[in-house]
Amino acid sequence: MHFQLTEEHEMIREAARDFAHSELLPGVIERDNEQKFPSEGVRKMGELGFLGMMTSPEYMGGGMDTISYVLAMEEISKIDASASVIMSVNNSLVCWGLEKFGNEAQKKKYLTRLASGEIIGAFCLSEPEAGSDATSQRTTALDHGDHYVLNGTKNWITNGHSASVYLVIAQTDVAKGHRGINCLIVEKGMEGFVVGKKEDKLGIRGSDTHSLMFTDVKVPKENRIGEDGFGFKFAMKTLSGGRIGIAAQALGIASGALEFAAKYATERKAFGKAIAEHQAIAFKLADMATKVEAARLLVLKAAWLKDQGLPFDKESAMAKLYASEVAMEATVEAVQIHGGYGFVKEYHVERLMRDAKITQIYEGTSEIQRIVISRAILDEISTQ
Ligand code: CAA
Repeated sequence: MHFQLTEEHEMIREAARDFAHSELLPGVIERDNEQKFPSEGVRKMGELGFLGMMTSPEYMGGGMDTISYVLAMEEISKIDASASVIMSVNNSLVCWGLEKFGNEAQKKKYLTRLASGEIIGAFCLSEPEAGSDATSQRTTALDHGDHYVLNGTKNWITNGHSASVYLVIAQTDVAKGHRGINCLIVEKGMEGFVVGKKEDKLGIRGSDTHSLMFTDVKVPKENRIGEDGFGFKFAMKTLSGGRIGIAAQALGIASGALEFAAKYATERKAFGKAIAEHQAIAFKLADMATKVEAARLLVLKAAWLKDQGLPFDKESAMAKLYASEVAMEATVEAVQIHGGYGFVKEYHVERLMRDAKITQIYEGTSEIQRIVISRAILDEISTQ
């Protein structure tokens, strides 16, 4: 076992860091204030290959491993967590899900355009009454021979307005429970599909989160991912990988807060010396750095397991659970270290604190991660 990144990994991290500083940092405060989608940044992310990092080159992706992806996610999230959630959903939920479980025609038609960044995608599972309890889908996709008829509402959909392709989870046969659920590829512009209201959020305000309404939308059967009834498993397997991306986002928010706080603490003087030289602040920085490093190890381990083709459900849940808690703690401490300056927008840390909260909620709340972890542990014990 060794803990060193390869030269290539270091280069990817550097490239993501440079990109975040040169392209995303300018205007990040304004975009947050005005809830403005980072269109130009997302376009450039596509050009640079950040939107389909793990997709095979055959489908216009970067052919990189999950470790490269989490390194890039961390760097981009330090600066702009709105941009990184757009990137995360496109990479790990939409592109990865399509490449792993889609058929050749679906990959040619949709994945190539998604991975190259020509278009972006959305993953549509949550509903007004089915968030954590994902098997209770009310959206229906009824079988009409060569097509499904889709009816229902999805909530809190990241890339809700900006996406062109939507992976929509819906119930086909209620009697079969979760085995009667399908995932359909829905295109923007299909008759009966309407993008609803934009949410006015606490954090990640640059990303566009919308509700979606489907009324008698005819979706061809060729747009179903996998066998009939595979939709719930598709969602669970895809989310398990997605959680590594969100864990890396949380890690980036935490390590970004640490970097801003450490810099501020060396510049700001009080009682005749830099505040970093006062133990009260130095201890805070030490605790933040230790927790950030522990979160990083969990994130990298989950990514490594996925790259090795080994089971990673438990580890991705652990990484997301812990990294998101560290993101909250570290950002609150960063605000505290900044004092009054931390409470105003100019210094970035208040935004990071607001952004951190969602990492404990989306792609499964912290409580859901604990369920996944505890079930895995109990399974391991029962098979020993
Ligand atoms: N891989 C493969 N199969 C899985 C699986 C996994 N990781 N997890 C569950 N399954 C399978 C089970 O094996 C079971 O199948 P069988 O009956 O054939 O054995 C089936 O799925 C049902 O599993 P459970 O009985 O465990 O289901 P449950 O109702 O108890 O729920 C849960 C499990 C973990 C709580 C799940 O509902 C869950 O993860 N909920 C959270 C949903 C979520 O993360 N939502 C986020 C929305 S997306 C988002 O936020 C994106 C964004 O915009 C950023």
